[in-house]
Amino acid sequence: MCEFKKEVESNIERLGAADDMQRLGVDFLVKTADYRYSYNFSWLGRPIIQYPQDMIAMQEIIWNVRPDLIIETGIAHGGSLIYYASILEMLAIAGHSDGRIIGIDIDIREHNREAIESHPMYKRIDMIQGSSIAPEIVSEVNERAQGCSNIMVVLDSNHTHEHVLAELEAYAPLVSVGSYCVVFDTVVEDMPQDSFPDRPWSVGDNPKTAVWEFLKKADAGDVRDAQGKAERFVIDKSIEHKILVTVAPDGYLKRIE
Ligand SMILES: C[S@@+](CC[C@H](N)C(=O)[O-])C[C@H]1O[C@@H](n2cnc3c(N)ncnc32)[C@H](O)[C@@H]1O
Repeated sequence: MCEFKKEVESNIERLGAADDMQRLGVDFLVKTADYRYSYNFSWLGRPIIQYPQDMIAMQEIIWNVRPDLIIETGIAHGGSLIYYASILEMLAIAGHSDGRIIGIDIDIREHNREAIESHPMYKRIDMIQGSSIAPEIVSEVNERAQGCSNIMVVLDSNHTHEHVLAELEAYAPLVSVGSYCVVFDTVVEDMPQDSFPDRPWSVGDNPKTAVWEFLKKADAGDVRDAQGKAERFVIDKSIEHKILVTVAPDGYLKRIE
């Protein structure tokens, strides 16, 4: 390994061991959430409801994994869909893969649909309207995933425990070995109880609690892929240690078996 890479790895390890730095990251999130900071950004012209650090991490993951299919639940204005599609486009330009992304949203507003469909990155995008956990949507996505060999999943829709657990059960089995299932907004568990008074999720009922329950099932051998093979995932802690500011602590799940 080259010296530069070694130094970066050691920086990340030191950050992971520094509780004060981890706390700084969570404090930044808690304080900026009051200003709806995640709404401040756009990607190639479309609003993207994310923290920039997570998006840099996503770029690194996509570039390394080289997926031929990304499945994302939660489209909103389409910024993240366009973002992931644009990284897939760069992978294709580099001759690495020729990927597509499927976005699923229960409510694709007309003006958002029009803007996404007229975007240059739309050539890599398919959109499905419906609840991500409705059986007909899950089977449509499964059908479209047939023939893909390197699949990545991103969950960013309804953030209740029940919903995210159902999404994990529906889509994590599609994730390829070495690829990721990224679960956003797990940070709700680490925020003050009253942070989302107008939402059904809060401490004890959110994506992080769903991830924990899902991982227990996977560790017990109860999550199987289409071939019946038991799947195992680990939380890739190096990502949150690296970026410090993340809405997805414990949410970067790497499939290892
Ligand atoms: C946080 S936003 C997505 C943000 C987007 N991924 C981005 O980064 O810009 C959540 C979206 O999830 C959608 N949603 C809520 N419940 C859903 C469900 N049951 N199935 C699919 N999408 C859902 C909402 O309509 C909303 O557009």
